[in-house]
Amino acid sequence: MSRSKTTYACNECGAASARWLGKCPSCGAWNSLVETVAQAPAGGGKNRLGAAFAALAPASDVQALASIEAQDVARTPTGQAELDRALGGGIVAGGVVLMGGDPGIGKSTLLLQALDALQRAGVPSLYVTGEESGAQVALRARRLGLAGSQVAVLAEIQLEKIVATLAARQPAVAVIDSIQTIYSDQLTSAPGSVAQVRECAAHLTRWAKAQGCAIVLVGHVTKDGQLAGPRVLEHMVDTVLYFEGDTHSSFRLIRAIKNRFGAVNEIGVFAMTEKGLKGVSNPSAIFLSQHADPVPGSCVLVTLEGTRPLLVEVQALVDSGGPSPRRLSVGLERDRLAMLLAVLHRHAGVATGDQDVFVNAVGGVRISEPAADLAVMLAITSSLRGKALPKGFLAFGEVGLAGEVRPAPRGQERLKEAAKLGFSVAVVPKANAPKRKDKAFEGLTIHAVERVEEAMALARQLA
Ligand code: TYD
Ligand code: MG
Repeated sequence: MSRSKTTYACNECGAASARWLGKCPSCGAWNSLVETVAQAPAGGGKNRLGAAFAALAPASDVQALASIEAQDVARTPTGQAELDRALGGGIVAGGVVLMGGDPGIGKSTLLLQALDALQRAGVPSLYVTGEESGAQVALRARRLGLAGSQVAVLAEIQLEKIVATLAARQPAVAVIDSIQTIYSDQLTSAPGSVAQVRECAAHLTRWAKAQGCAIVLVGHVTKDGQLAGPRVLEHMVDTVLYFEGDTHSSFRLIRAIKNRFGAVNEIGVFAMTEKGLKGVSNPSAIFLSQHADPVPGSCVLVTLEGTRPLLVEVQALVDSGGPSPRRLSVGLERDRLAMLLAVLHRHAGVATGDQDVFVNAVGGVRISEPAADLAVMLAITSSLRGKALPKGFLAFGEVGLAGEVRPAPRGQERLKEAAKLGFSVAVVPKANAPKRKDKAFEGLTIHAVERVEEAMALARQLA
């Protein structure tokens, strides 16, 4: 079989070269040349890649928006309620999902469980494994209690053979585990290289769109999320899901980073058990550590993930540091921590300049919203003074550079969840404090603050 010609194209400027070069001769960018399949330009155009990208979405004539028939996408629930939540309701025909995450976090486990549930519901499915043999997948299925599963399994890493199998079996859902192991015969680069990952994903995406088959691509994230990581695919696919969580704890989160068919920032919560991943339908309290009595340096906050409030404990440790004190954070942004320390110093007179400061969100959860600010500051001052905050204490609110405490979105919902879980004292931004008495907040004493120094003074009184 004759190989189609490959050339090297610069990622930055698009210049082509017959062989690989470290520096693009055209724009001078370093290490930007990536192998691509040379295709005859469609319609006599100059862009060699035109043919490859045209098919991602079929071209059409100009029409008024109102006259285009908009069909509601049909979703097939996967049988895993938490996965469906992250997907926006279920798998969409012709939709391509990228599932990223660290190795060993549970991607293969969850997808095998989902495929089995779909297959049992009469949806033909195909599981393509490039990392494990068919026997290993079968062994895993036994462990998951999926004996007698009718899911079709293909152990193959060559793209052309995979596509031929897809064409022959016409599954409604296919999982490619993982995209980094697949290679196309058209390219000479190794599997897992940017060129291969991109070419294989583009090919499979075109196939999915043309045939109406839903495809889930599994991708490993490297530490920097860069080379050969699934990052290069994010713009191609319809939905990007990221698995996160601490492999040492049993809880796993699935977060939608991008979703053309639903909301982003909705998370699915799972617990890893010896029988695979089980959805946690009421996750609000799972990220609280189980202290009998409050300890110094710990503060609970309510964060909102998608539509659900989640109570998370933030821990801080402030300890005398060396000549260059360290600021480390796990699950929270480090730059934000530096900013909060500066605000603490300037507006509340709490100096940590010569101290090491460590901050951690319990349970491997990642908090990106600024509503965590107040709780982080309270945890830091609590650790610094060696005094625990009272039992049943929580706080949330964004802190600005001027020392003002700004409201968090949907504060009442957060407070309701805290009251439901039996919390008794809350320090919140003034605008989030309920105006009227409400039964939903019963048992919760709510202190409204406008400034950081007020919050710190209040905490000192309560502790
Ligand atoms: P796996 O799904 O192979 O991860 P990935 O595909 O993301 O690399 O994940 C597996 C981890 O989960 C593995 O370390 C063992 C554990 N596990 C369980 O705890 N219970 C189970 O039922 C299964 C199948 C795996
Ligand atoms: Mg795997």
